[in-house]
Amino acid sequence: MASLAERAVQVLTTADGRAKCALSRAHAAEWMASRAAGSPLPIGKATPPDAPARPERPELLDPRDVPRRRPGSPTGRAALLHAVAHIELNAVDLHWDIVARFTDHPMPLGFYDDWVKAADEESKHFNLMADCLEALGSHYGAMPAHAGMWRAASDTATDLHGRLAVVPMVLEARGLDVTPGMIDLFRKAGEAGPVAALEVIYAEEVSHVAYGSKWFNWLCGREGSDPKEVFHRLVRHYFHGTLKPPFNEEKRADAGLPPDFYWPLTETAPDPA
Ligand SMILES: [Fe+2]
Ligand SMILES: [Fe+2]
Repeated sequence: MASLAERAVQVLTTADGRAKCALSRAHAAEWMASRAAGSPLPIGKATPPDAPARPERPELLDPRDVPRRRPGSPTGRAALLHAVAHIELNAVDLHWDIVARFTDHPMPLGFYDDWVKAADEESKHFNLMADCLEALGSHYGAMPAHAGMWRAASDTATDLHGRLAVVPMVLEARGLDVTPGMIDLFRKAGEAGPVAALEVIYAEEVSHVAYGSKWFNWLCGREGSDPKEVFHRLVRHYFHGTLKPPFNEEKRADAGLPPDFYWPLTETAPDPA
């Protein structure tokens, strides 16, 4: 029987979005069933690829070259859904990557429960966005998308603290800040399908940020370091740029992210590393 790490690599090396998400959901269901039965799949070891497999389409462009479309127009709204689908597909891979990449760190099984559940939810989110695009007569792959989404993962490939700080606690927390505005935009346009899908995403993303802060704090607690200081140092080292307010302080608090973690990172500071 394939280990959890081997299953993670199977997802990472599947290129097609729908196929990746179907495999991701099947592996997540098997992990959860094995946990409920009291006989968890072995975590095992496997080597994740440097970057996950991607379909031939969308074309991946430098963010500066991705055409900007007015969000007030139907094509602009479709482009927004396409961009979210791309983010969700990347998130599926990010969560399976953290499962496979850091097996040398002894972690409680709860660490794997959380990231497998997050990966399962991202797979659902990708499917929801792909469904919305298809309802508009489009599809994932019909427009160009940002290259370089995997950069945060590459930069933190050997640093679990850094990965948790940058991916769930910075990038996914940013999703909490911007999603309400997106929901509003689709609501004003009278597009009920995207509103319902984005509301699911918004509700579930809080827990992904919470898993990040939970395990980051856990690691710092295990070694007796100050989580806030370590967070500031790692984000300044690995994250390119400053954090941009306004922040969704309420949802960030729900996710266990206090203001003194992120506010000091809104200004540039010298990289101490
Ligand atoms: Fe998501
Ligand atoms: Fe997420």
